[in-house]
Amino acid sequence: MTTSRDAVDAGAAALAALKHAYAPYSHFRVGAALRATDGTVVAGCNVENAAFPAGTCAERGALAAAVATGHRDFDLIVVATDASEPTPPCGMCRQALAEFAPSLHVVGITTAGKRADWALSELLPQPFTPASLTNT
Ligand code: THU
Repeated sequence: MTTSRDAVDAGAAALAALKHAYAPYSHFRVGAALRATDGTVVAGCNVENAAFPAGTCAERGALAAAVATGHRDFDLIVVATDASEPTPPCGMCRQALAEFAPSLHVVGITTAGKRADWALSELLPQPFTPASLTNT
């Protein structure tokens, strides 16, 4: 994971993190860069494991690093892959991101230069939220 103060180029941070992805099993490298509302960009990559379920996604790696360095408000995540088309975060990552940033702007980019934009609220329209815990 890398941390950058560059508010402008979360895309570059995601692409840089992708190069550090540890994906010897799937060979699907992912880099993610989460931008906090103060402009701080925190990146993560997927880190796989021989015990497959112990592997972690790039997005949740970035989220964990960001929260651990004092950030809880985010406006953008960029997800970078080598795939032929941009890929949005997986379902578990959508849920994890919604905890902190239900209005997050999600950008997928590829190393070949393709881009797609989504709202997290369209990718996960009915998240389980902290308020959901009170509905007992
Ligand atoms: N992966 C991510 O890092 N983010 C996603 O949103 C989708 C999948 C990783 C997990 C695994 O290491 C590899 O990509 C293939 O699923």
